Amino acid sequence: MIADDDALGWDGSAAADAYRGRDMRLAEQLIFPAVLRRLAGRSGPGRLALDIGCGTGAVAALLAGTGTWTVQGLDPSADMLDIARTDRPHPRVSYRLFDGRTLDWLADASVDAAVCCLVYCTDPDDGRLAGLTAEIRRVLRPGAPYVLADLNPAATGVAFSTLRHGEPGARYDDGDTVTTLLRLRDGTMMTTATHYRSLDRYRSFLTEAGFPSPTVELPTLAAGGPAGAAPAETRTAPYMILTTRA
Ligand SMILES: C[S@@+](CC[C@H](N)C(=O)[O-])C[C@H]1O[C@@H](n2cnc3c(N)ncnc32)[C@H](O)[C@@H]1O
Repeated sequence: MIADDDALGWDGSAAADAYRGRDMRLAEQLIFPAVLRRLAGRSGPGRLALDIGCGTGAVAALLAGTGTWTVQGLDPSADMLDIARTDRPHPRVSYRLFDGRTLDWLADASVDAAVCCLVYCTDPDDGRLAGLTAEIRRVLRPGAPYVLADLNPAATGVAFSTLRHGEPGARYDDGDTVTTLLRLRDGTMMTTATHYRSLDRYRSFLTEAGFPSPTVELPTLAAGGPAGAAPAETRTAPYMILTTRA
């Protein structure tokens, strides 16, 4: 399935500006609590967490704001990092440009947790993601968690209240580009492209890098009100949360 020709990519200031205005409610309700649960009890003065592909800094700020983590927010987009530094400065967060693959400023077994949220789906390059995953494995201390949150590949085509990735009824294979709609806070939609990978493909990124097979969480919202009016996210998980340990 080929993406819409007019879809906005992930590089450049136009994409970063549009992403800055996204409606974050579903991510805040479904991803953020799961990330915090998975990292519970692990923060402490001087403990280092990585927010890999931090974009505009939402997860980095979440970690710094709800624990005592020192956080490095890493992204290959200078435009995303500019927004993160402006919108979410924090004395314990440093934002850093990197190549999306190499963590060579970090020593082996020197990091206490890593989170990577909605990143693999935006990168078409399997080789880069395999390299990045191996680097994450290298820098984590033994037993430290790696939380990988991403679009749920079993939810393509479902119209959630703030996003839809893929066309209703379409079937996707690993590597396919998927037209993805994100709702912005002003009520308009941003059209962008993501890259389909099956859950098995995600598992193999992790196991090929030396991580154990992850636990998989598929969070949905609690249903309230009349069944007919219940939004899709009460029946189907928009996101998946994979957790493993070094
Ligand atoms: C959809 S945004 C997610 C941003 C943020 N994690 C969030 O949840 O709001 C995807 C981000 O991943 C970054 N990215 C793409 N490929 C990457 C890679 N190989 N390594 C790290 N970040 C990458 C993009 O520059 C972009 O900022």
